[in-house]
Amino acid sequence: MVFGTAGTVALGWIFPQRSMGHERRDSSTPCTSDRNSEACQNYLRGVKATDSSGNHIQESVLLASAVPGRPVLVKGLSRPTYLVINQGPKLAEYAIDPSCPHHKCTVEWKTDRNQFVCPCHGAQFDAQGKVLKGPTRRNLALITVVVQDDDILLIDRKPTVDPRT
Ligand code: FES
Repeated sequence: MVFGTAGTVALGWIFPQRSMGHERRDSSTPCTSDRNSEACQNYLRGVKATDSSGNHIQESVLLASAVPGRPVLVKGLSRPTYLVINQGPKLAEYAIDPSCPHHKCTVEWKTDRNQFVCPCHGAQFDAQGKVLKGPTRRNLALITVVVQDDDILLIDRKPTVDPRT
């Protein structure tokens, strides 16, 4: 018993990240039975990104035809989401919530203008959701993206770091 306790303490010392509850990126680990437990404090509940037909989107398939700088509209959350494609092409660790910060109209990506445009009052945003023209002065909100086993998971909370600031 003493050895077991000492062993647990030693493991906590050797692997402090695990015992200190750093952010978990594994959203499939079950925290469903007791989500309020300390171990599940930073549980990331994600939903798989799907296409317009409801099919799960695999990252490898998406990137095979993705164009850097051209966001990709996907479903999965309660509202549409735009995945951000970086150079590579590479999937960004964040996606764009197309709800306009002005009065919540849904902005649309305009490939010919290379920007998001709000149909209500004309606000404009770049491919990362950064405001270019008002009336709003705020950027589009971001959503966390995690890739797991080639599945693209949308996690409905802003990323730890906003890459636009
Ligand atoms: S709701 Fe988008 S600019 Fe007003």
